[in-house]
Amino acid sequence: MAQSDNQQSATDAAKTWSQRFEGALHPAIAQFNASIGFDITLIEYDLTGSQAHAKMLGKVGIISAAEADQLVIGLEQIREEYRAGNFNPGIDAEDVHFAVERRLTELVGDTGKKLHTARSRNDQVGTDTRLYLRHEIDEIRQHILNFQRVLLNLAKTHLKTPIPGYTHLQRAQPVSLAHHLLAYVEMLQRDGNRLVEIQRRVNTSPLGAGALAGTTFPIDRHYSAELLGFENIYANSLDAVSDRDFAVEFLCAASLILVHLSRLSEEIILWASEEFRFVTLTDACATGSSIMPQKKNPDVPELVRGKTGRVFGDLQGMLVLIKGLPLAYNKDFQEDKEGLFDGVNTVKACLEAMTILMDEGLTFQTQRLASAVAEDFSNATDVADYLAAKGVPFREAYNLVGKVVKTSLAAGKLLKDLTLEEWQALHPAFDKDIYAAIAPLTVISARNSFGGTGFDQVAQAIATAEARWKASAVNN
Ligand code: ARG
Repeated sequence: MAQSDNQQSATDAAKTWSQRFEGALHPAIAQFNASIGFDITLIEYDLTGSQAHAKMLGKVGIISAAEADQLVIGLEQIREEYRAGNFNPGIDAEDVHFAVERRLTELVGDTGKKLHTARSRNDQVGTDTRLYLRHEIDEIRQHILNFQRVLLNLAKTHLKTPIPGYTHLQRAQPVSLAHHLLAYVEMLQRDGNRLVEIQRRVNTSPLGAGALAGTTFPIDRHYSAELLGFENIYANSLDAVSDRDFAVEFLCAASLILVHLSRLSEEIILWASEEFRFVTLTDACATGSSIMPQKKNPDVPELVRGKTGRVFGDLQGMLVLIKGLPLAYNKDFQEDKEGLFDGVNTVKACLEAMTILMDEGLTFQTQRLASAVAEDFSNATDVADYLAAKGVPFREAYNLVGKVVKTSLAAGKLLKDLTLEEWQALHPAFDKDIYAAIAPLTVISARNSFGGTGFDQVAQAIATAEARWKASAVNN
């Protein structure tokens, strides 16, 4: 039978309820109440969850084995209809759970009405949402891996490319560009690990908690949980139907991913500016201005930076949604979905866009980067280290270098341009090896402490990150 849902009037919603109801829902209220417009996102998980529930009912003998089979097959048919684009319930169905149950009854007759035995939409929707999020976390982890792959490739290319390192957005010490990029690989690693930890808690079954108090039927919650691949089951039925901690935790993790992407975005926006010119944007990811023909705008990182606020909003919305709710289920929970879906979709879209941006959307201007680090005082610490290595106490050396910088600035010179006489006038310990000691690449490679920017360290860090990436890529 073809879907007639869209044609049915909203007043049919009254038929969903028990005989307690006589009148129909006001059409505007039916619209207001309905979640089908967005919870259709959960349909595949609703079908899978219902199939597990039906099998469990059959296993323990609450329904017959034949009935359980009928339900499972009917639910599978709905899945096929949905995938073929032929299942499009309207708002008269209220939500995805009613839509599925109604269609199932159309397909398999009265047996369809047995599906909801020993279950409530409260434990059902909680099951669906967790199955959905568990799957989406896998997807997001894959996006993180893809992004790390691109950053690692760039790091390998740019091991020996210098870039100014900043503190307070003031030139501080030059670093390897690979080292800078690997900082993001590390952040993303924590993001991925956090998702793995959260997924463990997401993967807990509320199914069988009923509306709030459990059920009078001899159900087997462990069995349905096992069929659905849940690692645990909720120990308390009230907690099971009213816990949304997992959604908060996920949105927290999503917010942190966006924080990281947004920081990189901000850097790229700066780097692409005329003031920095560290990168140029390729045509793949930049747009022009409708009025200023000279412009090439970094829309991708700007949008990522902007969307970050949206995801923070999703997190905030979820926290506020939950905070005042008495146990157990409250209809407010219907409002958990759009923010959660938005967080999931935004994080995926941003990871994908940033991956493309870093992969083919920009080119590092290596010449410009090399001259940038050669034309500043970011090697001043190394002059102090040079003296300290020759036995001058560091604080004394530090103070002296302050004087060196002041003298150079007054003479309109960089440190590398001071003559040996000028150096030796400042301190007799200076010798002609000072020039090699303050060359940018020497300065970088000398910071060879563990986790530092020294090229040997960075090469090692790339190898470690690469091995870790391969192990994670196999596990995901
Ligand atoms: N559409 C509802 C939601 O998303 C399903 C659960 C409804 N439960 C209830 N007791 N009214 O939360």
